[in-house]
Amino acid sequence: MCGIVGITSNKSVTSMIINSLRKLEYRGYDSSGIATLYNGSINEVKCEGRVDTLEKNLNKTKLSGNVGIGHVRWATHGIPSTLNAHPHSSENVSVVHNGIIENSTILKKILVKKGHVFKSQTDTEVITHLITEYLKKNDLKNSIIKILQDLKGSFALGIIFKDQPDVIVGARRGSPLAVGYGPKENYLGSDSYALKSMTNKVSYLNDGEFCIIKKDNIDFFDEKGKKVNKKILELSSNENNYDKGEYKHFMAKEIDEQPITIKNCINEYIDKINNDINIFNFPWKSDDISSIVLIGCGTAYHSCLMAKYWFEQLTSLDVSVDIASEFRYRKNRFKKDALYVFVSQSGETADTYGALDLCNKNNMKTCSVVNVVESSIARDSKFVLPIHCGPEIGVASTKAFIGQMLVLYLLCIKIAKSRKDISKDIFSEKIKSLKSLSGLIKESLKTENEIQSICNSFIEAKGSMFLGRGYSFPIALEGALKLKELAYVHAEGYPAGEMKHGPLALIEDGMPVVVLAPRDKYYKKTISNMQEVIARGAKVLLITNKSKDEVYSENIWQTIEVENTSEDLFPFLVTVPLQKLAYYSALKKGYDIDKPRNLAKSVTVE
Ligand code: G6P
Repeated sequence: MCGIVGITSNKSVTSMIINSLRKLEYRGYDSSGIATLYNGSINEVKCEGRVDTLEKNLNKTKLSGNVGIGHVRWATHGIPSTLNAHPHSSENVSVVHNGIIENSTILKKILVKKGHVFKSQTDTEVITHLITEYLKKNDLKNSIIKILQDLKGSFALGIIFKDQPDVIVGARRGSPLAVGYGPKENYLGSDSYALKSMTNKVSYLNDGEFCIIKKDNIDFFDEKGKKVNKKILELSSNENNYDKGEYKHFMAKEIDEQPITIKNCINEYIDKINNDINIFNFPWKSDDISSIVLIGCGTAYHSCLMAKYWFEQLTSLDVSVDIASEFRYRKNRFKKDALYVFVSQSGETADTYGALDLCNKNNMKTCSVVNVVESSIARDSKFVLPIHCGPEIGVASTKAFIGQMLVLYLLCIKIAKSRKDISKDIFSEKIKSLKSLSGLIKESLKTENEIQSICNSFIEAKGSMFLGRGYSFPIALEGALKLKELAYVHAEGYPAGEMKHGPLALIEDGMPVVVLAPRDKYYKKTISNMQEVIARGAKVLLITNKSKDEVYSENIWQTIEVENTSEDLFPFLVTVPLQKLAYYSALKKGYDIDKPRNLAKSVTVE
């Protein structure tokens, strides 16, 4: 997954491209590059590493030009290196690409036979040679139509041409692509976020479409080359949230913002006068839905798993949860009376989008829970529930996880009430508890000092385990994922009751084990499982809630207590110390917290 930007203007575009690439680094940051057209020739500067390094190299070469493309890469084909960095240029064209060309090996063989010499290990370079070849006998538009017929896979492309002084071509199959309209200049970007500092007027390419962008005009075409009309949409502006403020890292800021984002989200959805949840224009009657399928990736998958426990507990719906990359290639039994819910912070994750697309093609009821309301997943689902978190910049998701869980919980109790699975009184009680959630999360943030003093044990150990039952199990998975992705230490989330079926063998003297045991209906069972790991030498960090009753167990290494709330809402409170644990572990190790290795904010490859 990579980020693409293109600008055609009547002034030099280099610094604007650099600024946009910075915004796109959440999609990949192992190498970067830029190509411009200057005095009739294509010039490029590329490097292994981030946009800061690219900018230093650019200052040395003084790259100029009024039309250009830029790229940040997350390697798929070929190691991160200067040679493999995009753009990939021939004398005649230069290409940036996001996605994967599945038939690149076959195409490469054909092109090599025709005399083309390849410099990189990437699949992208095939596109460069292919267009160069077609341009020998075809005009620009027909060359694009022909390469799109040849290429298999999912991709977004940005291309500039030696002989077309102000043209950028954008093409989309599978991976999203936006264009932006500016004053005497126009733009191409992997998403509107990259374009936001330049314009708030955008259009999105649909699958299979391509566009020819000039500085004063943009034409859109379908895959056969027939012109299509596009709506120009206006983006909302919330630039202020893209600032770290006094924080060292976006992640720290985003964790601490959670009481506010929860409050905002509750204000958006809860009708305080009528004590109800506002979900307007929901296109289906709740009686027409008898099951719910929740789909996501990574952290979003964990919020889906969390929602399964709530939906099963509070509604009579059949509930299933799926990882998007598994769902989309299985033989699914699509059910007309099922509601398919797609959860994604970015709304651009390729697998989640693929699963949504599959459901849409099968005419299913599709609904998405997203943070970015202008995203592809939001645009293409039949109903959208925004999480109202504001931009999440830290690559490892924190406030969006809490926001996703909240919106899924709201949906759950709203459906439960409309189906009469819960009484009006129970519904009102739940609304009442929700109103105090923001304040309780604020209290959870105060566990910071305790966490800081114990994270050394987690980073020095060979590995750690995170255990929970019921509502706490998805949170255990999420806690382990956060520690893995940020502190690069092995951590495993496990259902506490499953430990006796094998994984107890991993417990060694001094191994840190987090046990999530708020006093809910699973509490006693979890405490028994905790004793089993303590008996085998584990150092247990118990996360429970404040209570007058002592925890009945000896030899607990550390205990952290969150506030009291209803059973349903404990998951929110126990999540926070785990986010802090991952943050401070990574901080102590001196890692790049907002851009952890081998990860990207928006995973736009399968
Ligand atoms: C990447 C991110 C994770 C995120 C996952 C799904 O792996 O680093 O933080 O949970 O993608 O992203 P989505 O935008 O669909 O929620």
